Amino acid sequence: MKKIQFLVMLLWLSVCFAEGAVHESPVPESNIRLVHGPYLQNLGPNEVTIVWLSDKPSVGWVELAPDDDTNFYAVERPKYYDARNGVKNTSTIHTVKIKGLKPGTNYRYRVFAQEVLSHVGHRIVYGYCASTDVYSRKPLVFKTSDPANKTVSFAMVNDIHGKNDVLTNLVSKCDLKKTDFFLFNGDMVSVFNEENHIFDGFMDTATRLFASEIPMYYTRGNHETRGAFATEFQRYFSPKETNIYYTFRQGPICFVILDTGEDKPDSDIEYAGITVYDEYRTEQAEWLRQVLDSKEYKEAPFKIIVAHIPPIGGWHGNLEVERKFMPLLREAKPDVMLCGHLHQFIHQDATAQTPFPIIVNSNTAVLKATADPNELKIQVVDVDGKMLDQFSIKK
Ligand SMILES: [Fe+2]
Repeated sequence: MKKIQFLVMLLWLSVCFAEGAVHESPVPESNIRLVHGPYLQNLGPNEVTIVWLSDKPSVGWVELAPDDDTNFYAVERPKYYDARNGVKNTSTIHTVKIKGLKPGTNYRYRVFAQEVLSHVGHRIVYGYCASTDVYSRKPLVFKTSDPANKTVSFAMVNDIHGKNDVLTNLVSKCDLKKTDFFLFNGDMVSVFNEENHIFDGFMDTATRLFASEIPMYYTRGNHETRGAFATEFQRYFSPKETNIYYTFRQGPICFVILDTGEDKPDSDIEYAGITVYDEYRTEQAEWLRQVLDSKEYKEAPFKIIVAHIPPIGGWHGNLEVERKFMPLLREAKPDVMLCGHLHQFIHQDATAQTPFPIIVNSNTAVLKATADPNELKIQVVDVDGKMLDQFSIKK
């Protein structure tokens, strides 16, 4: 009998110790850090998406404050969580789309990440928090767009291929106080094999220079489609949108962002059987047909098409753009088409066949533009400050 009692006690003790091990709270050993971003995506009149990364799995949120004369610490600011279907994401990358904003309005913001040390059943142990600084620095600010704005200015770079010095040089050619947004028109890196290719390649530089406060709209190039990490592209850019081809309005301009895919046939040895871009471009052409027929496009004083691969040159990708997109564009008559890809500057004037100019920006120049409802002015400046082109389109 005593032997049974002893065994029962042993069993009870082992259960207690096992439970103790599960319930023991891990002690945070190190601080969490924000390592990339925050940067703005898909900014519109009523919404913006903010992206940032931490070095440890965490939950994340944004605090938003009006850009008034109150201290950021005056009251508890509303919080917008990185969540999906009602559950906060535990991740090292955080994306929050804030909706319901007022057009043409400045907002101050702060982003957070709080480490998740363990998550077992309904028991979660949180670690330390990291945030952007609103104490010793001015809080970050963004301004929503306003379709009623009479004027707008923007700059476009492309084919940077991970050359941070070229990106820094070209951004320095822009007056950031007067630049409402940037366009990245593809091939910002040569290959996407891992996350660091994004941030080491161009995005940390872009964030340091402007992207926390000035929005950047990304047009994917063919090189962003290469590498094992290529399928992750949309976790970082346009993460809350349906597709990575999209439209947006800024001031008097409606922009149509196309994704022209790769430049060789899908069967080429270079893609190792992993691409289906012909099918993708066909599907996108159907979307383009609807966009070009929309009120948003038709009613904008100016219309600009942004596409990485131009309909110039005889490679398969160029021919696909010519075959699938150009017939629709010729009918819809945008004001200009902005391309890259060729690493050379080309200004092709409007012709009888193509009733709008096509500008191919080189890999060593920045295209800068300003517009009001009556005139769109474009100039192209290279890394040495030399003006390569200057022209205007009047209504
Ligand atoms: Fe390219």
